[in-house]
Amino acid sequence: MRKILFASSEVHPLIKTGGLADVSGSLPIALRQQGQDIRIIMPAYRKCLEGLDSIHTIATLKLDGFHLPIEILQSTLPDSDVTIWLVHSPQHFDREGGPYCAPSGEDWEDNAARFTLFSRAVAALSMNQAGLDWQPDILHCSDWQTGLAPALIADLPNRPATVFTIHNLAYQGLYSRAIFDALDLPDKLWHSDGLEFYGLLSLMKGGLIYADHITTVSPTYAKEICNYEFGYGLEGLLSLRAKQGRLSGILNGIDNNEWDPETDSYLTKTYAIKNIRNKSINKSSLQQYFGLPEKADVLLMGLISRLVSQKGIDLTLDAVTTLLESGANIQLACLGSGAADYEQDLRILRARFPDKVGVDIGYNEKLAHQIEAGADVFLMPSRFEPCGLNQLYSLRYGTLPIVRNTGGLADTVVDATESNRKNEIATGFKFNQTTAEALEETIVRALDLFQRPRIWRKMMITAMEQNYSWGQSADTYLQLYESL
Ligand code: ADP
Ligand code: GLC
Repeated sequence: MRKILFASSEVHPLIKTGGLADVSGSLPIALRQQGQDIRIIMPAYRKCLEGLDSIHTIATLKLDGFHLPIEILQSTLPDSDVTIWLVHSPQHFDREGGPYCAPSGEDWEDNAARFTLFSRAVAALSMNQAGLDWQPDILHCSDWQTGLAPALIADLPNRPATVFTIHNLAYQGLYSRAIFDALDLPDKLWHSDGLEFYGLLSLMKGGLIYADHITTVSPTYAKEICNYEFGYGLEGLLSLRAKQGRLSGILNGIDNNEWDPETDSYLTKTYAIKNIRNKSINKSSLQQYFGLPEKADVLLMGLISRLVSQKGIDLTLDAVTTLLESGANIQLACLGSGAADYEQDLRILRARFPDKVGVDIGYNEKLAHQIEAGADVFLMPSRFEPCGLNQLYSLRYGTLPIVRNTGGLADTVVDATESNRKNEIATGFKFNQTTAEALEETIVRALDLFQRPRIWRKMMITAMEQNYSWGQSADTYLQLYESL
């Protein structure tokens, strides 16, 4: 049995902005089920304090660079026996709003201080400095919000081995030198083989430089980030880590209990392969919800996304507009929030084609499940996609993903080419070029096959037969921990 401290800035079902929360709420459970002593550590955001029962204080400690002492609270991750520790510093985390942004959508001004405080607490606990009589063998951190923790303990004797997972290299936690000084970070960390990145402080680099091993969330993304196009200037460092055998890609799993069309309580009608026809009842419900004509023969396309450039929202807007202008037999059911211009463009599309397009701007867990179940295809034309979870949920719900051939999308979707269909391995549709035309052609390709119900049904079944539960990936993480 290994002792693992798993640090994350968001954990489902306590607080979530994207897939990091899904992973942080399900991988620890899978590792726990394999007999590991794993504890999650996260900031005590107001939403978490409200969402957890029996929370109690187990330690108080003073962190370098911060005046007030902080508390470590303990509770249990809902529906599990995984212990969760919350770093309680009310002035940093107990406020209305999201984990990174104010209700206005702007980043919190003190994010550097908030996540430095969090990382300092993670570092202290991983060195057993809070009197809890528990020291992990492994400290597993994720993304820039936790990047400082491996850096802060790198030189200490008897430290745990450290793993740093990149969920998205596009967000790096970059701040000015003045902020570095204000945070009272050790001077020795400021150099180009440290936290410094072209004159700026990079919190992400804390993980990349100082962790014993870097992982990212799919094998293809692990290769992509070693290239100029996806590396954001860090490709040199990442290539070196790959050569040293210190960078690997481990595909995300999904929570098969939470995302299961056979038991999903959000659905109008549950279904499985044996009664796959019931899926169509969810299609009607979804059409009804969005006020779209309840037709079975129209290709209903789902989209659930953070509305940001990464997700190719502009490609979707352009391709869908062209197709609707030419009278294609498609509908779009869309749920998302993010950049104001994408939100606005989607609303405009809805206004132009009210019987073809349904749009909900916001965050809605229930509707996300209903779109996965009700749609025929799911759109993910991402520019890059470290792993992507929605295509995995789609596969399980028999909703064929239409994806760009990148990152985790490339690793998990098998294109409906003729030979793949003959070999009965096709599960969706893929395209290469990052253009609206390529997406449009691919939607047309899907539309053609949609007219051939036997082929379509076979693909749905093949998709639903895929197993992307955590079992295998959790094993791979365990092997990695052992090797360190
Ligand atoms: P990313 O982490 O880059 O946003 P993923 O595909 O890994 O992409 O994970 C996104 C997760 O967030 C999925 O669980 C998805 O269902 C959820 N999600 C995204 N936007 C919304 C929304 N507006 N409402 C509900 N769930 C959402
Ligand atoms: C990031 C990535 C997404 C991935 C998720 C969980 O948000 O954008 O591709 O699935 O992290 O690892």
